[in-house]
Amino acid sequence: MRSNYVGGSAKKASAKAAGAATYGGRQGDENTGRGFLAEPRSWPQLTPLQWWEIPELLPLERELFGTEQWSEAMFWSELAQHDTRWYRLTRDDYGRVLGYIGLCVYSTEQAWVQTLAVRADAQRQGVGAALLTALLDRASVLGVTTVALEVRADNVAATALYARHGFQAVGVRPAYYQPSGADALVMMREGSERITQSQRAEQ
Ligand SMILES: CC(C)(COP(=O)(O)OP(=O)(O)OC[C@H]1O[C@@H](n2cnc3c(N)ncnc32)[C@H](O)[C@@H]1OP(=O)(O)O)[C@@H](O)C(=O)NCCC(=O)NCCS
Repeated sequence: MRSNYVGGSAKKASAKAAGAATYGGRQGDENTGRGFLAEPRSWPQLTPLQWWEIPELLPLERELFGTEQWSEAMFWSELAQHDTRWYRLTRDDYGRVLGYIGLCVYSTEQAWVQTLAVRADAQRQGVGAALLTALLDRASVLGVTTVALEVRADNVAATALYARHGFQAVGVRPAYYQPSGADALVMMREGSERITQSQRAEQ
């Protein structure tokens, strides 16, 4: 969904050699906190988003979504609907939020990606893909046949990420986002089977 709340831009993050450790081709800088791994370990660790963590997300919302940011009340409303919502977040080794994702499941016929965000300095390191993969796994476990979402049509990073995970554009909602007036692309992913790494590499 991310109704009226999709936006932001992605940039390439890079870790410096000094003080950096590598895991699975990913790097983190323990001096600057840039990057997200200082120590090799199993990654990412996702935890359910708790109400007391909401204030930590608000600066990220401001930075990543601008005028389309979610308010504290909107996060509260999402978490209150615990029967239909699945929210996860992941942190770096310094405890700072790296990114978060939300799913809404009303029935096994269709579920919606509510939001997806990765901290600007951690983008392009696989965090978004890992969050989305976890969400698709969750949908799959629940037997959901179609996962859908709305994304700003001009959001190159997000549309590329979704396309890479099997989502296809099925429609446009003109001037869906306000006050920007940007169009929303509706994307859908049929089937609950996972796309393998090799299939992804071919796309
Ligand atoms: C969209 C977003 C979540 C992607 O997260 P990320 O952690 O940077 O994504 P990943 O590193 O996992 O990228 C996976 C793939 O997505 C695509 N992608 C990601 N960022 C991209 C960019 N800036 N340009 C083009 N493709 C991009 C690529 O195919 C990438 O694979 P590659 O790095 O091997 O080329 C992140 O840019 C973000 O938070 N943006 C602001 C908030 C937002 O727009 N959220 C989406 C709401 S619908």
